[in-house]
Amino acid sequence: MNQKLYMVSLGPGDVELLTLKALNAFKECDAICVPTKSEDGTFTKSITHTIVIEALALLGVDKKLIPVYSPMRFNPKDWEDEVDVVLDTLKENKKVCFVTLGDAGIYSSIYYLLEIIKEKKSTIYESCEVIAGVTSFSAASAVSKKALCLGDEALTIKPINPRGEVKTTEILMRPRIGMDTKLLGEGDFYTYENMYLRDEKITPSKIGKVKRYMTLFINYAIRN
Ligand SMILES: C[S@@+](CC[C@H](N)C(=O)[O-])C[C@H]1O[C@@H](n2cnc3c(N)ncnc32)[C@H](O)[C@@H]1O
Repeated sequence: MNQKLYMVSLGPGDVELLTLKALNAFKECDAICVPTKSEDGTFTKSITHTIVIEALALLGVDKKLIPVYSPMRFNPKDWEDEVDVVLDTLKENKKVCFVTLGDAGIYSSIYYLLEIIKEKKSTIYESCEVIAGVTSFSAASAVSKKALCLGDEALTIKPINPRGEVKTTEILMRPRIGMDTKLLGEGDFYTYENMYLRDEKITPSKIGKVKRYMTLFINYAIRN
């Protein structure tokens, strides 16, 4: 059985802020794993459940909803348990979605889960697709009609209550064509050129010279 896991970003709460990719994943899948803070497996405290229900109504489809107890205690044992639910669901269903609020790349537990899945079931990790979504702060900026960055401004995203040292991921945009990238420094760089467009190129390092304006660099925080 060719199993497939989708990590689906739901956006900040409005079903209209779901992407077409998210809706297509819901249409295609056999079951949706939905995090809930209720230990009894009900969805009374689950914002994600409300969004999923609205999305399924919009699509006019019915899917199995699997509760995933997610107490948000930042406890590796909880992530292990959540992975067990996801992998068990994949034993009985070919295509499975796991949902997360906002965008998966911003303070979401999905990357803790994916690290565990990589160790336990590397084939599922390799074929897993993470679907990007609208972040809470992109939506906040839009509802207030206030730009997050203009001209030469930078944007900072910070945890309000860090548990330890705050490491930084840097996103570098708007390069000059022909520029040498030495001045960007060193680190865990990725280069993204023409993403989702013709001639898309994603390089897991820093390219030496910028060839096109549609290039962005991410210097990822070094994690253990
Ligand atoms: C665990 S983080 C998840 C962030 C999310 N992945 C994103 O892309 O925005 C949860 C925090 O995101 C912010 N957040 C997420 N959705 C929000 C919303 N609908 N309204 C206000 N803040 C929100 C709050 O600061 C909340 O404490």
